[in-house]
Amino acid sequence: MSDTAPARRLHIKTYGCQMNVYDSERMADVLRPLGYGLTDEAEGADLVVLNTCHIREKAAEKVYSELGQIARMKARKAASGGAMLVAVAGCVAQAEGAEIIERQPAVDLVVGPQAYHRLPELIARAHRAAGERLAADFAAEEKFDALPARSGATGVTAFLTVQEGCDKFCSFCVVPYTRGAEYSRPALAIEAEARSLAARGVREVTLLGQNVNAFAGDGGLGALVRRLAKIPGLDRIRYTTSHPRDMDDGLIAAHAEVEALMPYLHLPVQAGSDRVLKAMNRGHTAEHYLRLVERIRAARPDIALSGDFIVGFPGERDADFEATLQLVREVGYASAFSFKYSRRPGTPAAAMPGQVAEEVKAERLARLQAEIEAGQAAFNGAQVGRVLPVLFEKPGRRGGQVAGRSPYLQAVHCEGPERLIGEILPVRIVSAGRNSLAGELQMARA
Ligand code: 5AD
Ligand code: SF4
Repeated sequence: MSDTAPARRLHIKTYGCQMNVYDSERMADVLRPLGYGLTDEAEGADLVVLNTCHIREKAAEKVYSELGQIARMKARKAASGGAMLVAVAGCVAQAEGAEIIERQPAVDLVVGPQAYHRLPELIARAHRAAGERLAADFAAEEKFDALPARSGATGVTAFLTVQEGCDKFCSFCVVPYTRGAEYSRPALAIEAEARSLAARGVREVTLLGQNVNAFAGDGGLGALVRRLAKIPGLDRIRYTTSHPRDMDDGLIAAHAEVEALMPYLHLPVQAGSDRVLKAMNRGHTAEHYLRLVERIRAARPDIALSGDFIVGFPGERDADFEATLQLVREVGYASAFSFKYSRRPGTPAAAMPGQVAEEVKAERLARLQAEIEAGQAAFNGAQVGRVLPVLFEKPGRRGGQVAGRSPYLQAVHCEGPERLIGEILPVRIVSAGRNSLAGELQMARA
């Protein structure tokens, strides 16, 4: 923890029993990584939490009179250009719920004792509603947060950001706090950038976003893809990363109808057990995901699927993990990324009971990766003998070779001159390794 003054001041007033005293401490703990430090003064605080008690009628009434005073403090702070969030927690919140906000509009959020794990999400959402970003104290862990780096190396392929941020609040993830709310760039600006990339010789764009398929322009991402597919010279379109909840019919239909849209989809599921998916706050079950995969495959039977997985999420039992392995087998991924659950203070899962031992995580990860690799080997092996169009991107590792990508995003190398870079040419696949394919050029261009 940093020893500088907290970015935001938190005042918690606790009423009632020992249980509430304990809960108040927990609330302070989960809010600390979001930049909140405790203060004894309600006046001027950035967040005031009343942790209430409902045991007697009088106790509840006391809360409303206290809220009246806090409403005046909030107004004073607003008058001096500041902002104060007001939260009601505890048993009054549980018993009266949204009525509290009706009776006292200065209250920003109401959170019952069953939902304290959602406090970081609720606070982040309240900040968003006020048009502000949280000053979160999350240590950067690039591998989970960052989008793919700009390639730029050859100029044949490029990334194009279309969307940023995340509104999903998976309980393990810092992105909704660090990147803020979902925001989509205007389609017109995206199209202009795509045209200028194509004019500079780019033949493949990968549309980027933390939740790229939540792209909010007219007609969603499917419509954007159709629009970009009309740009002369832009022969290949990809997008990443997608959330199962945002995979709409228009986008699925684009996979059936738009030739430039490559048959590859990164669609993280994270886990195969509904218990774990629920605790992860994913908003879908394993069954939803499998049905979705069916619909996508009905549109584009040869599509290569990829995903992300987390093993050792808090509370994950052997049977849950087996369900993940089962899902991996059922889907048949062409590739996938898997991670050991990493506890990120400030995210709801960090405070969950049932944290899984490191050795168990390591063992599960090894088993999952073996399963994923088997699937990947099968997918790559199935290409041997096929002729695939390859977009050549760079010289191969050995002299006299060129390297590129198949429609399924597999690395392909074959004998050929460097002048093929930037061309899409048919290649007969002659052998498959775990991470790449070797092929022979079917016809070199004159
Ligand atoms: N622990 C482990 N994996 C994580 N991811 C995100 N947050 C965590 C975490 N706390 C993984 C998810 C996500 C990918 C980008 O990183 O699988 O899809
Ligand atoms: Fe994180 Fe979930 Fe949002 Fe992906 S969808 S960025 S895992 S919160």
